[in-house]
Amino acid sequence: MATLVDQTILIVGASSGIGAQVARDLAGHGNRVVVVARRAAELAAVAADVRAAGSACLDLVADALDPAAAAAVVARVVAEFGAVDVALLNVGQGPDMAMAEVGVEDVARVMALNYDVTVHYLVPLIAQLRRQGGGLIAQTNSLAGLMGIPRQGPYSAAKAAVRTLIDAARVELAPEGIRFTSLYPGFVATARAGADGLPKPFRISEKQAARHVVRALRREPADAAFPWTTSALVRVLRAAPVSVSGPVLRKLAR
Ligand SMILES: NC(=O)c1ccc[n+]([C@@H]2O[C@H](COP(=O)([O-])OP(=O)(O)OC[C@H]3O[C@@H](n4cnc5c(N)ncnc54)[C@H](OP(=O)(O)O)[C@@H]3O)[C@@H](O)[C@H]2O)c1
Repeated sequence: MATLVDQTILIVGASSGIGAQVARDLAGHGNRVVVVARRAAELAAVAADVRAAGSACLDLVADALDPAAAAAVVARVVAEFGAVDVALLNVGQGPDMAMAEVGVEDVARVMALNYDVTVHYLVPLIAQLRRQGGGLIAQTNSLAGLMGIPRQGPYSAAKAAVRTLIDAARVELAPEGIRFTSLYPGFVATARAGADGLPKPFRISEKQAARHVVRALRREPADAAFPWTTSALVRVLRAAPVSVSGPVLRKLAR
């Protein structure tokens, strides 16, 4: 189990929600924290809290949709702190999208907002972690990435694509000391998620979600699903025949 003491920790998607709370929770303990997002003011507020808790903190404004910007962030962290010990790739968004109403471009956009943004960091991080002899890459997936959720089809598909990519990377890169942890939250009461009008059974708070994430960063399981209620529901629905899971999912999505 890693101690998360005296580590350089990069959190991409740290200006609000789960990522911001994880940054605050990891501050102190000799950790150096790098927070990245697009909204400069929100990011600066998180960085100020991290510094107040005693950590060196870089706040970098960068759009994860731009692969060059992502590579530059990784290079900047290494220039400043020498290595990346832990990276949390947390950028993602799951808008309410019914398949009867989406356009082709909507599906492509959700794929970019969840899959491309992860790949843009994954590639330069793997190169850096190979150079430095290992490290941990964690990614905030979703329980929606484990099965097709009604009104979240494009999001489920994008998160499932990230999941399988990271599953392959984990197996390939274990001999080089590169570890991967995929995080599968259920519904979390973040400001952005609260605005979409989707039903959210077994919703947990940002603070609860961040505690699950920090525990997973310490223990480094391949997969960490939480809370157990939503996780168990998804496991049961995946195992059930569609004649059973279909009506339940339709009812939950109403
Ligand atoms: N909330 C839930 O119910 C829930 C459930 C399961 C999984 N998740 C996953 O948890 C992760 C965090 O979501 P959250 O609910 O905490 O939402 P959030 O508050 O919207 O957090 C997303 C973070 O990513 C940043 N971001 C978004 N697009 C970006 C881009 N193109 N470039 C750089 N940064 C970008 C946002 O900051 P800026 O806008 O400032 O760039 C923000 O800091 C996501 O991957 C989401 O899919 C959430």
